[in-house]
Amino acid sequence: MCGIVGIVGANQVATRLVDGLRRLEYRGYDSAGVAVLTETGDLKRRRARGKIAELEARLAADPLDGGVGIAHTRWATHGAPTEDNAHPHASGPVAIVHNGIIENYQILRDELLAAGFIFQSQTDSEVIAHLIASGIKSGLNMDEAFSAAVERLRGAYALAAVNAEEPGRIWAARAGSPLVVGIGDGEGFVGSDSLALAGWTNRVIYLEEGDRAVVTSQGARVFDSDGREVVRPVQISRAVAGFADKGEYRHFMEKEIHEQPDAVARTLARYVDIDAGRFRTDALLDWANVDRLVATACGTAYYATAVAKFWFERQARLAVEIDVASEFRYRDPVISKRDAALLVSQSGETADTLAALRYCRQMGSRTLAVVNVAESSIAREADAVAMTEAGPEIGVASTKAFTAQLAALVCLAVGAGRARGVLDERAERELARVVLETPRLINMALAAEPEIERIAHRLTAARDVLYVGRGVFHPLALEGALKLKEISYIHAEGYAAGELKHGPIALIEEGTPVVVTAPYDGLFSKTLSNIQEVSARGAEVILITDSRGAEEADNTAAQTVMMPECPEIVRPLVAAVPVQMLAYHIAALKGTDVDQPRNLAKSVTVE
Ligand code: M6R
Repeated sequence: MCGIVGIVGANQVATRLVDGLRRLEYRGYDSAGVAVLTETGDLKRRRARGKIAELEARLAADPLDGGVGIAHTRWATHGAPTEDNAHPHASGPVAIVHNGIIENYQILRDELLAAGFIFQSQTDSEVIAHLIASGIKSGLNMDEAFSAAVERLRGAYALAAVNAEEPGRIWAARAGSPLVVGIGDGEGFVGSDSLALAGWTNRVIYLEEGDRAVVTSQGARVFDSDGREVVRPVQISRAVAGFADKGEYRHFMEKEIHEQPDAVARTLARYVDIDAGRFRTDALLDWANVDRLVATACGTAYYATAVAKFWFERQARLAVEIDVASEFRYRDPVISKRDAALLVSQSGETADTLAALRYCRQMGSRTLAVVNVAESSIAREADAVAMTEAGPEIGVASTKAFTAQLAALVCLAVGAGRARGVLDERAERELARVVLETPRLINMALAAEPEIERIAHRLTAARDVLYVGRGVFHPLALEGALKLKEISYIHAEGYAAGELKHGPIALIEEGTPVVVTAPYDGLFSKTLSNIQEVSARGAEVILITDSRGAEEADNTAAQTVMMPECPEIVRPLVAAVPVQMLAYHIAALKGTDVDQPRNLAKSVTVE
């Protein structure tokens, strides 16, 4: 889950490569580097620990000239985020950048060490540079040495290589990690995705599994895994550069929280025919003939599936099995042709979710992907795609992508209910009216921000925070805890309210914050009992509820965050907002790197 970019052209490339890396920083940001082939025939590198700005400063102090180069932004897998471990890795005239994990690197490393190669890093990737160099040493040309090296690699890789002795070309290969080739005017490009190339070219070739490519300023030749030259279509990318602007906000996450009314409205507009009062979801799946929905995702997207399970079961009487993709893909799940697989992913590149999709396809089930990036691997490989319209999400912590996923999923569930005959025309029309209210309700929920910020001050020193909810608010409790952990580094756990007594209540001591999301509903009195139980043991309860819930709770909670009264079906979308704002303000007050929290990357393209 690193980012790769390469340019082969006539003009200076170093600073442009850094621009490309900036568009890929969402994939990793613990170190970065550039390698350029100079006009004098040398290979020169600049690398820096930390974010791309550090590399930029290094290049400003010590510039690189040359018209061919490759660059990389890293998310460490093997070896700490140091300058030595930063890519590009070099061996003689060869330099490489790599995204993925080379599973047999230890065997290769031992072999190369025995052959006299000296390793400068602890990475798995460096073996690739030495493998290519060893091929050249044994008399192969770069085409042959690159292919021979790739054939020896096991694991996942997207990689690009240059050779100072054969300038004017970039060699590229992919297996398990995405890679695109860009065709420009008198320039050629490689990139982890089309966004990396946005602004340079919109003509891209998506390399397929096992493909290799040789890219020049005049075009690209592509070879399949058997070494046969193949023609891959040149597609027009819709990726646009230059969106990354925080506007009036301190952080992208804050901006993205506030963009939710629009993100949800745009997503709903895709699936709800306002005039007809109908849900446009029939073309995506033959809902009436599906026995079971198998929903798979990771992180926040997984919690979206956990919310959606309630909707599909209630509105469509459709059985739903959910699992995190990293478990699903390895547990030999029983999938039949009568099942439909639902994959949810913001990036559309999450390695485990992509693997789950491929597994379900192999098992013969139809795959439906809910994704936010139209050109992503998951979108391209799924049988049907339900797009979310969140727009680019830059903050690592998912906010607007989550509510946009919920918006798409609630529409799919209602559409499925209608197609399966569970809902009649009147019910569908009424639900269309109701879900279209969501953007307005989210706007109202955003108005609680000053109160949430006040409460956040009380939580910045917390060591542990518990999140609790029942029913559809249980996944929201899990999501709230994830959000807090990832951006504030405060330990947090989410629990089903009824489970507290079965263990977690032992964690409660004087002042332990417990965030309870519980709008007034048929289960409210049960949750209220749980609030009383933890309050009696010294917990400081922060209750996210509506006016009826606040009235019923009658000061049982230490703090109350008011959300608007909402129709039941859309409550999770609205309740997500205070949960996100609380995590955001705690982290902002603590002064953490909210948009790029430590150890994380936006897109997890390694398993
Ligand atoms: O791009 P995806 O939706 O597939 O990403 C899945 C998770 O990595 C992601 O939701 C992650 O949990 C977020 N950083 C949480 O805020």
